[in-house]
Amino acid sequence: MASASIGLASKLSNLRKSNFISSSDLTHDQIISLFELSKQLKFGNRRIDLGNRVLGLIFKKASTRTRVSFQVAMARLGGQTVDLNPQLTQLGRGEPIKDTARVLSRYCDVLAIRTFSQGELEEYAQWSTIPIVNALTDLEHPCQALADYLTIQEKFNQLKGINLTYIGDGNNVANSLMICGAMLGVNVKICSPNGFEADSKIVEKAKSLSKFGSKISISNDPLLAVKEAQVIYTDVWASMGQEKEQLKRKEIFDKYQIDQNLIKLAGEDAILLHCLPAHRGEEITDEAFESKNSSIFDQAENRLHVQQALLAVQLGGL
Ligand code: CP
Ligand code: NVA
Repeated sequence: MASASIGLASKLSNLRKSNFISSSDLTHDQIISLFELSKQLKFGNRRIDLGNRVLGLIFKKASTRTRVSFQVAMARLGGQTVDLNPQLTQLGRGEPIKDTARVLSRYCDVLAIRTFSQGELEEYAQWSTIPIVNALTDLEHPCQALADYLTIQEKFNQLKGINLTYIGDGNNVANSLMICGAMLGVNVKICSPNGFEADSKIVEKAKSLSKFGSKISISNDPLLAVKEAQVIYTDVWASMGQEKEQLKRKEIFDKYQIDQNLIKLAGEDAILLHCLPAHRGEEITDEAFESKNSSIFDQAENRLHVQQALLAVQLGGL
């Protein structure tokens, strides 16, 4: 156990003080080691006390899972969080990111930021002297993808060669699933309506990071895409910030709803994932959501364990 711990520490040592703003910020080996640490923390085989470190939370969008799992992760590591609500700080009155980042670096040990533009996050990373963690942008949701693939690894005891089909909007969640999946050797199919496909630059990036023969593909026919899927994944049709398009999208995405028929096409043993929050009756039926195939709450739980592992490593706790 002692030498295994030392091995893990050396494999993860490069992540100390590092940013995590894109799924591509981690290598295959680092992700696998993070999963190892996540499981040790999850099953109580390891305790890490960072001393009284502080995580600042800057959330410009609503959140239940990300916010609470970060708060609980920090508490379990013996640290604390401070809520830097943009409306109550000078950020809401236009104080520049380059000043905010330098000031907060003097108080906090790490920042988790949920915002619209990925560029904003990159600006924080450029000016701060503490790690920046992407808690969701319009482009990526890398903490979510880590929890998703940890869940898949736990369910199938492997990642390489697993077939994951994501059905729905080619959004932030789809983007991180492609990048992270490509590095882990997972075959990721993203199936969306015409005009709502994933960002082509991200598709190319994912393909360029592909390992162990992972195939990344984009298509438009859910009935074909779901065949041979071991994991079926979906997310809301209108993300935060797209509320005005919700009605229009409901019509366009009509054929992309996950229901029992679609699950049957994949096979009895396929698991169903959703990053949550879910809109039952839109991207997923209540029956599918509550079916025996659903691993959605195991997936939500894993947000806590991977983020606790990530923070422990970034803050030098190993
Ligand atoms: N999945 C996810 O990020 O959930 P929250 O928006 O509740 O944080
Ligand atoms: N795609 C969704 C994910 C929510 C966790 C959104 O950005 O709103």
